[in-house]
Amino acid sequence: MNTPFYAIDLRCEHLCDPLGLDERLPRFSWRMEDSRPGARQSAWQVVAASTAARLDDKPDLWDSGRVAGDQSLDIVWKGRRLISRQQVWWRVRIWDADGEASAWSTTARFEMGLLQPKDWQAQWIGRSVVTGKDTEPSPFLRRTFTLEGGIVRARLYATARGIFECHLNGRRVGDAFFTPGWTDYSTRAQVAAFDVTDQVQAGPNALGAILADGWYAGYLAWGNTRSCYGVQTSFLGQLEIEYADGRRVIVATGPEWRTATGPILKADFYNGETYDARLAQATWALPAFDDASWAPATLFDPPAKTRLSAPRTAPVRRQQELAVQTQTEPQFGVHVFDLGQNMVGWARIRVRAQAGDTITIRYAEMLNDDGTLYTTNLRSAKATDCYICCGGGEEIWEPRFTFHGFRYVELTGNLHEKPSPADVTGVVIHSEIPPTGVFECSDSMVNQLQSNIVWGQRGNYLEVPTDCPQRDERLGWTGDAQVFIRTACFNRDVAAFFTKWCIDLADAQYADGAFPHVAPDVLRKEQPDPGRGCAAWGDAGVICPWTIYLCYGDTRMLERQYESMAAWMAWREKTSKDLVHGGACFGDWLAPDGNTPRDLIATAYFARTAELMGKTAAALGRRDDARRYAALARRVCAAFNRTFVTPAGRVMGDSQTAYLLALGFNLLPAAKRAPALARLVADIERRGFKLSTGFVGTPLLAPVLTACGRVDVAYKLLLQREYPSWFYSILQGATTMWERWNSYSKEKGFGDAGMNSFNHYAYGAIGEWLYATVAGIDLDPAKPGYKHIIIRPQPGGGLTWARGELLSRYGRIACAWRIEERQLQVDVIIPPNTTATVMLPGRKPERVAAGTHVYKLPWRKQAY
Ligand code: BGC
Repeated sequence: MNTPFYAIDLRCEHLCDPLGLDERLPRFSWRMEDSRPGARQSAWQVVAASTAARLDDKPDLWDSGRVAGDQSLDIVWKGRRLISRQQVWWRVRIWDADGEASAWSTTARFEMGLLQPKDWQAQWIGRSVVTGKDTEPSPFLRRTFTLEGGIVRARLYATARGIFECHLNGRRVGDAFFTPGWTDYSTRAQVAAFDVTDQVQAGPNALGAILADGWYAGYLAWGNTRSCYGVQTSFLGQLEIEYADGRRVIVATGPEWRTATGPILKADFYNGETYDARLAQATWALPAFDDASWAPATLFDPPAKTRLSAPRTAPVRRQQELAVQTQTEPQFGVHVFDLGQNMVGWARIRVRAQAGDTITIRYAEMLNDDGTLYTTNLRSAKATDCYICCGGGEEIWEPRFTFHGFRYVELTGNLHEKPSPADVTGVVIHSEIPPTGVFECSDSMVNQLQSNIVWGQRGNYLEVPTDCPQRDERLGWTGDAQVFIRTACFNRDVAAFFTKWCIDLADAQYADGAFPHVAPDVLRKEQPDPGRGCAAWGDAGVICPWTIYLCYGDTRMLERQYESMAAWMAWREKTSKDLVHGGACFGDWLAPDGNTPRDLIATAYFARTAELMGKTAAALGRRDDARRYAALARRVCAAFNRTFVTPAGRVMGDSQTAYLLALGFNLLPAAKRAPALARLVADIERRGFKLSTGFVGTPLLAPVLTACGRVDVAYKLLLQREYPSWFYSILQGATTMWERWNSYSKEKGFGDAGMNSFNHYAYGAIGEWLYATVAGIDLDPAKPGYKHIIIRPQPGGGLTWARGELLSRYGRIACAWRIEERQLQVDVIIPPNTTATVMLPGRKPERVAAGTHVYKLPWRKQAY
């Protein structure tokens, strides 16, 4: 590269080099790499070709030509029609503000999957369940086939009713877990695509698949419910091999396949995995393996209404390993290993034992006083893996079709020698959500809080945003997802993750427009379910797409979700009386005190989502709708005031949450804001600067106080050490966010085990305030995706420094401040192709361009 600037981080549909797409108009994005101050893109050109060679020579699929403009996100494909299996190589060059062209970027790729039903030759196969009443051994499926030399490309397209792992010629295919992921299988199943060119060979080959119940047939939702989607698991796979001469051979699932059970005696998300190593056949996926004793696979009908679609997000993968911090033996032969961090995944164990010896691995988030595992809060989830040894030396094992939420691992069984810390390793897994944010400050407790928030997100962003990862629940609770999403967007790149989940939400929507409590909706009962359409929960259907648009500038998200968002609003309107929304709802869920009327919450959210719908319509250029929703928002707001606000500005319920909703959603007329704020602050003060809020009120606390000019009170709440507060759980030993402010206390022990998760991210929603207000990185809603950045750190709380970083879609934004002597120094980095407004205490807002900006201002000690 000889220019000082060029395009990097090329993405297609938010992903790097995706395979198996079904988006016929995919979108391209890149970042401008340029360290020169004021760097800005003035034009771009994308070229795309069907081979790498043609890209250099003559791009045959698309040449956009030079297009003037600074757009670098979500440029929609305008090339030739994309067909099944189409391979695309693409690259970009950009022009800077002086009109100079960059060199071409490195080449990126994407590839289409099977777009039409007629592309599929495969049939659904499996092994008939015996009774279907409980978890049965995992079926192994295999077939052999012969290929000629001259293979240039091989792809495996596969999905399952259940979850699968494929093996080709003795090697595992890919590195994803729990494929094809979790969707409402009766509506939509995702087809995973794998590049297996390196795994096929001229001559004999063998392809195999192992199946497990997963979300489809396993235990899911409380009350020992299982088989939410069906009893019988099955697999659909199509291996396509292309030769240099253009011939294509297809090896598909069908009657030639054979099946047997193997070492995986049980595999279930809640209950764990049991593996009998004596039954393992190492060569089962090699061509020479003799499968004469295997039975023919059973053919199953295809699901009637399921559409096969490409995954919109990256799968669950192995992310990190944690070493044991301490080891104890609270009872004879009961070995407990502390990984030092509440995490999600499983333990890999190393043992030396004899054939038939059984090692039992149990998992827990907390310990009882006597050092044994506390598992009551897991409810019916057994969270137990079992390994039956094959003997003959060191054995290393980990499960593959289950996951657990835990910090402690217990080993018991025929352990011939005392295990050592090195015999247990914590394997951390979650959906691929690349890190984007960093937050740090001078207070180690706040840093621990940030760490707890991030671990809460990591453990619960597993295929869908779940409420918790450990007990018999682990569902895509809409309310939890909605309150946390903005924080999530700071910590990690969740654009693709939510693209997928918003489709899950729309898939789960009731015919009348109501959103369910969870998506995918496994709690659905007979219609009409009076529990659906809950305020602050169902509203996720509007808030999540809107937030993804704000944080990533993704307009298509709004376009695609629009119909479902509008249907929700219509349902709201229809089911409210004089625009006051009653309806069943969870209220200010788990609020430790304060009584916020449920219809007040519902009406406040109705006004809020009507306002967001108006903005959504405006962003999409739907002017009439924009006007209509804005008017609706005003009318609901008037109804809110009529019904819940006294002339003196007192809001019904008189709770912190009631005032937070009224102020935070801008529902009060100007004259009533000050009295409302005064009552809110008085309540906080009266409690000794403590909160009384639950899931609905808590996320609003710090942002609303800050917006109303009381950042001092927000800091006091943040730094509060007594119950209820964020620090309280940290002082009780939390390494993740807890479901309740006092899920455990040193003084009183464990809270109600019926609902007591130690990894529940909702209260972690304070994270967005840490980034936006403490570190000072925020966005301008008028220029979504951080095209225009707001830098506005508000030092306080006795902190002497803080720093935040966000890898936005335009590049790295950073703001770091430090108070030294009587000076506040602020270092700001604004990425290329964006602008920012820097707002510092006591100074006029300043508009700046890309580059590094350093400010030094006099600093008087603040009262807070
Ligand atoms: C879940 C929550 C959820 C709530 C709704 C609980 O069981 O764990 O986080 O939002 O139910 O009431």
